[in-house]
Amino acid sequence: MTPAADSRYPIAVLVSGSGTNLQAILDAAADPGYAATVAVVISDRPGVRALGRADAAGVPTAVVAWGDHPDRESFSTAVCDAAAAHGAEAIVMAGFMRILSAAALNRYSGRILNIHPSLLPAFAGTTHAVRDALGHGVKLTGVTVHLADEHVDYGPILEQEAVPVLAGDTEDTLHARIQDVEHRLYPAAVDAFARGRYEVAGRVVARREPV
Ligand code: GRF
Repeated sequence: MTPAADSRYPIAVLVSGSGTNLQAILDAAADPGYAATVAVVISDRPGVRALGRADAAGVPTAVVAWGDHPDRESFSTAVCDAAAAHGAEAIVMAGFMRILSAAALNRYSGRILNIHPSLLPAFAGTTHAVRDALGHGVKLTGVTVHLADEHVDYGPILEQEAVPVLAGDTEDTLHARIQDVEHRLYPAAVDAFARGRYEVAGRVVARREPV
C-alpha cells in the first residue's frame, strides 16, 4: 500500500553543521499532528552531520556549496531553487552559516525563519553570540526565533526565551542550556508558523492562540 501523501506545510531546513535543531524539528515532525513536514534539507557544506540526520529520517537532501557560486546572489538563487524544487513553502535556517541575498529574501518574503543563540538585538551579527554574552557579563541571555530580513539577525521576533547565566558557566555549559531551549522553542515556532498563527505588523508580531 502506498502511504498517503503528506499534506502538511512543507519546509526546507538550511544547515551548515551538526544539525541538532534540525533533529528537534525532524523529531517533532515525526508526529502526524505536527503542522510542518521537512521537504528537503539543504547544506552549504558536504559531509556535515546534519545531512546524515536527514538521511536517517528519510528526508531528501541537497548540497549547495558556497564555493561553486561566483557570488551571494547566485548562491542564494541556487538555495531557493533547491527549496522550491522540493515544494518548500518556507525556509527554516537552523545553524546555517551563510547570509542570503535580498532577492532570495524577496522570493520567500516573510517565510524565512532563523534562530539565534541570544536575546536579540543583543549580540546580533556574530557567530560567537554565546561567548560574547559571557564575556560581556550579562546575567541573562537566551534564544530568539525571528523572521529573516535584509539585515543580519534583525527581522521581526517570533519567539524569545531567556536563559540565565550561572556562576562558573563556560561557553560550552551555557551553550548546552541554550540549545536545550532551542530544541523546544524552534519546533514549536515552526509549528505555529505553519498554522498561520503569527500576525506580523512591522516589527511587532502577535501570536494568535487557537480558540
Ligand atoms: C544554534 O545554537 C543556533 O542558534 C545557531 O547555530 C547553532 C546551530 O546548532 N544559529 P545546530 O547545528 O542546530 O546543532
